[in-house]
Amino acid sequence: MASSTHWSLCLVLISLASVAFAAAPRRPVDVPFGRNYYPTWAYDHIKYISGGSEVQLNLDKYTGTGFQSKGTYLFGHFSMHIKMVPGDSAGTVTAFYLSSNNNEHDEIDFEFLGNRSGQPYILQTNVFTGGSGNREQRIFLWFDPTKEYHRYSVLWNLYQIVFFVDDVPIRVFKNCKDLGVKFPFQQPMKIYNSLWNADDWATRGGLEKTDWSKAPFIASYKGFHIDGCEASVNAKFCATQGKRWWDQTEFRDLDALQWRRLRWVREKFTIYNYCTDRKRFPVMSPECRRDRDV
Ligand SMILES: *[C@@H]1O[C@H](CO)[C@@H](O)[C@H](O)[C@H]1NC(C)=O
Repeated sequence: MASSTHWSLCLVLISLASVAFAAAPRRPVDVPFGRNYYPTWAYDHIKYISGGSEVQLNLDKYTGTGFQSKGTYLFGHFSMHIKMVPGDSAGTVTAFYLSSNNNEHDEIDFEFLGNRSGQPYILQTNVFTGGSGNREQRIFLWFDPTKEYHRYSVLWNLYQIVFFVDDVPIRVFKNCKDLGVKFPFQQPMKIYNSLWNADDWATRGGLEKTDWSKAPFIASYKGFHIDGCEASVNAKFCATQGKRWWDQTEFRDLDALQWRRLRWVREKFTIYNYCTDRKRFPVMSPECRRDRDV
């Protein structure tokens, strides 16, 4: 009797453990730049390293530069290893984002705001649906993002959009269509990466200007992982809907461990969250209420 109780307890623990680990996104597959991406503008400001397994974007006083995915995707798991501009990066913005290309566009953004030497970067995230954003969140990172590569990823399915820094979820945007909030689900997106000058707003609200004597500013990218449902630009649905690993049940919500990590980020590293900005939004957006309840 005692031993069978013991056994079933073990089974419960084992299955809890597997549930806790089940929802970690699959390991990204690193591929050369040219497999998934091509330059968007200022081709001569992109430098290719070891056969394109790594690229460096250069920003000088003439121009920044960027690159975009060859394919267009409706849902998936996308990640990029990035090493931010070292030293004095004040005024610069390094970005990794998904965007649809139309009037009422959808967008999922990672924007890294540079700073003076030794001062911390800020990671700003945003979600646009049907052309409107105003959903900024800002955090400090728990490491110096200019020292090493770190992996920044987006998991996007019909149920949620999750922003990850390495394996830590830093933000979740749930599908709250039932509460009247638009969710990106029928406009395919491309993935964009870029480095540009934004010294009118990026660092301490625009007080710190880009010091061009420190140019060129260099951000490094590698990994180039894309695992999405490829669709034509005007497609309204994903042909493999419900069949890929990232839209299975365990990826429709964060698991307990991920919720705990997200709470840790919110408690320790959050600088700004539109959800709690009562001045700007006297009525809290419905999606904010939902993701607090969980
Ligand atoms: C830059 O450093 C200052 C001083 O530590 C800080 O107030 C600011 O939030 C930092 N980041 C940005 C992007 O302004």
